[in-house]
Amino acid sequence: MIKEKKIAVLGLGYVGLPLAVGLSSSYKIIGFDISLERVSQLLKGNDKTLEVKKEKLKSCLNKNLKITNDFNKISECNIFIATVPTPITKNNQPDFKPLKNVCKIIAKLLKKGDIVVFESTVYPGATEEICAPILENNKNKLKSGRDFFLGYSPERVNPGDRTHTIDKINKVISGENKLVEKVLKEVYSKLTVGKIFIAKNIKVAEASKVIENAQRDINIAFVNEIAKICNKLDISIFDVLDASSTKWNFLPFQPGLVGGHCIGVDPYYLSYKSTKLNVDPKVILSGRKTNDEMPIFIAKKINEKLKKGSKILFLGITFKEDVPDIRNSKSFEIISFLRKRNHKVELHDPFISFKEIGLIDFKKITNFSFDGIVLAVPHKFYLQNLSKIKKFLKPNGILFDVKGKFINKKKLDIKIWSL
Ligand SMILES: NC(=O)c1ccc[n+]([C@@H]2O[C@H](COP(=O)([O-])OP(=O)(O)OC[C@H]3O[C@@H](n4cnc5c(N)ncnc54)[C@H](O)[C@@H]3O)[C@@H](O)[C@H]2O)c1
Repeated sequence: MIKEKKIAVLGLGYVGLPLAVGLSSSYKIIGFDISLERVSQLLKGNDKTLEVKKEKLKSCLNKNLKITNDFNKISECNIFIATVPTPITKNNQPDFKPLKNVCKIIAKLLKKGDIVVFESTVYPGATEEICAPILENNKNKLKSGRDFFLGYSPERVNPGDRTHTIDKINKVISGENKLVEKVLKEVYSKLTVGKIFIAKNIKVAEASKVIENAQRDINIAFVNEIAKICNKLDISIFDVLDASSTKWNFLPFQPGLVGGHCIGVDPYYLSYKSTKLNVDPKVILSGRKTNDEMPIFIAKKINEKLKKGSKILFLGITFKEDVPDIRNSKSFEIISFLRKRNHKVELHDPFISFKEIGLIDFKKITNFSFDGIVLAVPHKFYLQNLSKIKKFLKPNGILFDVKGKFINKKKLDIKIWSL
């Protein structure tokens, strides 16, 4: 088996870069990405995902970490860890293109004894059903489980979360055999001080990840549905949650927009597989539907409360707080709904350069300019600048506090609408 571990991380995004950086404290790591732009930014120490600081990245690049977009440079590696995207198509079907492409690249490089690990979120069975046949299509006719070996370790990092970081969280690993489990346990123990849990097999590890996100989606969908009921009852969901959460076993989920590339996407991987297995994924898809309807529900409420052609300041276009990620952000659906109804909507987000997509320069906003301010994503920046923001409202203007951050702050002395 592998004596000296030479590890390649393929796909240097939100997941792959912190992984490559973390492992480089203990191993020689080569990070590979097909994006020329991403690689050239990283080589200068710039991580646009903001997950790894410039100083840290530069110091790793001066030590054990190499970054490249030439796959020949990873040919000497004997452990390949793939962290490529697993998005969905327009019809909410799994889109395996990036995963298949990375397998084709690894297949060209495979040697006897190599280990190939996947961290991308997939449905149970995908590693063995989709990745293995592509990997086995190699010039040396190497077979999975005989000549090279598969592993799967789901990723749990939560971008923007500085508490549950990659070096502290518990890690689930799985392997095709005991030897792979042993190697992966050793490798991942160097990454985290958290526990290493060896799942029964690869399918179990795959299932464990995708159900974590589906469970979250369904729980959020439940409170979103309750938010709609509360709205009809003319009570605040946040007041209800404050009361309910005094019970010891009440689950603390909050209503809101579910965007991004994980919670709003992964359940579709699970429902796809479920349908193939002739199990109707009623609960999973009903949660998805409820959450997908929330942007328009919120947009309609904003539209109802404002006069025709209102001036609106829309704060927060990333998919969640304190990250620069706009993938599948639900803010855009609300913005587009409001613009179609002839409101004049100005956008701002502290994580996106205001020049990039025509955002307004926060420093240049004048007081008493807007009929409505939609606080869609309560980045820390907005919470810290609230006294400034409320002055941007015209007298009688409304703050649409989507996530209920200020609903009970009477001293704000402005009209607030919340879910
Ligand atoms: N971001 C998260 O919060 C998170 C958390 C847990 C799990 N995941 C899962 O991890 C996987 C990666 O997500 P991400 O957010 O890091 O994606 P990302 O888009 O941030 O990064 C993926 C990187 O892979 C590169 N890439 C694409 N195809 C490639 C190929 N064939 N070879 C090499 N590089 C390639 C892209 O250029 C990109 O830089 C997904 O399956 C996702 O569901 C993500």
